Amino acid sequence: MSRTAMKRSSRYPLKVALASTCLLGMWASSAWAVPPKPPAKQTLRQLASARGLLLGGAVSAEVLDPEQVDLSQGVAREYNLIVTENAMKWAPLNNAPGQFNFTLADFLLGYAEKHKQVMRGHNLVWHEQLPRYIAGISGRAELLAEMKNHIQTVVRHFKGRIPMWDVVNEAVSDGEGHPLRQTPFLKIIGPEYIELAFRWAREADPTAKLYYNDYSTEGINGKSDRVYALVRGLLEKGVPIDGVGFQTHVDSTFSVSDSRMLENLQRFKKLGLDVQLTEVDVPLKGDAPLARKLEQQATVYADLLTTCLAVKCSAFVMWGYTDLYSWRSSGYPLLFDDDYKPKPAYYALQKVLVSAPK
Ligand code: G3I
Repeated sequence: MSRTAMKRSSRYPLKVALASTCLLGMWASSAWAVPPKPPAKQTLRQLASARGLLLGGAVSAEVLDPEQVDLSQGVAREYNLIVTENAMKWAPLNNAPGQFNFTLADFLLGYAEKHKQVMRGHNLVWHEQLPRYIAGISGRAELLAEMKNHIQTVVRHFKGRIPMWDVVNEAVSDGEGHPLRQTPFLKIIGPEYIELAFRWAREADPTAKLYYNDYSTEGINGKSDRVYALVRGLLEKGVPIDGVGFQTHVDSTFSVSDSRMLENLQRFKKLGLDVQLTEVDVPLKGDAPLARKLEQQATVYADLLTTCLAVKCSAFVMWGYTDLYSWRSSGYPLLFDDDYKPKPAYYALQKVLVSAPK
């Protein structure tokens, strides 16, 4: 069933919930309609572009659906960058040895180019969304050959049209044991699969910027320490890595200051790497009244963008556009509600883009 067909029918509409808690006064006459005095008339895209910041989000086939004009126009209006949520992963592109299907990915890239948006490439090597044939490989040479062919065929296909790639995604372990996640690539090839992936991607398109991307690494913690050690080691070996993506799947109780996020991002910048927030979503959490949680969500978004600007990160990317199609939809994590209307978090980002030091 398509996600459109799955449009939330049973859900208690967030607007009704807000109305029922008599909080409309905070947002004029309807649930988070335009606040009394919006921070700016310009869109997020206009405000971000004026700062040289890439600001965007993940998209899927819905953005191409002629019946989803509001979504398609909204994404074009508000984002100067898009990333494919799934269409450029291994299984969707290369579901059988040597067989590639770029149809949907090409359509989504065409949408980006039509709207003069940057396309962020996601992702080349990841332990999830792998085709079944990869699981059947046990030989090191065979897996190396398949990995090289996948990386170089995909990067060459989009050469010159995708200026940045998540080359390796989520290779670092969540726990304190082995520093690297026990993926098929690590088990069969060894830790050098990571540097080989970067070297092969660079060979395929020398103009593309190459990123390592991971989650739960936003603040100073054991995992971000392991990512820091990994990328510093890659740099010391002359591996072509240009930046680190911090996915930033947090929630409305997240504290940028308590997590020491600024200090964390700064240490990666000091290595000479670019930093990007690559999959930002902030689901509502806790048992505060709904409008309070929406305010908390807005504050977290604002703090994340403020931190991103403070370290001159090159991109601030949400993992979607509307709550309706989010992978974490039950938490209403994004800037636009199920009817594509801006929420308090949208206006909070506008305010940061208007007022933060340039
Ligand atoms: O396309 C098939 C469809 O044919 C089938 O009918 C349907 C039901 O089985 O599944 C569809 O594939 C789903 C795919 O999304 C496309 O909708 C997969 O089952 C589902 O697992 C996949 O989830 C994606 C997830 O990555 C995969 O782990 C999410 O949409 C996507 O938001 C999420 O994104 C990841 C980033 O790539 C990496 N960082 C974490 C982030 C969240 O997990």
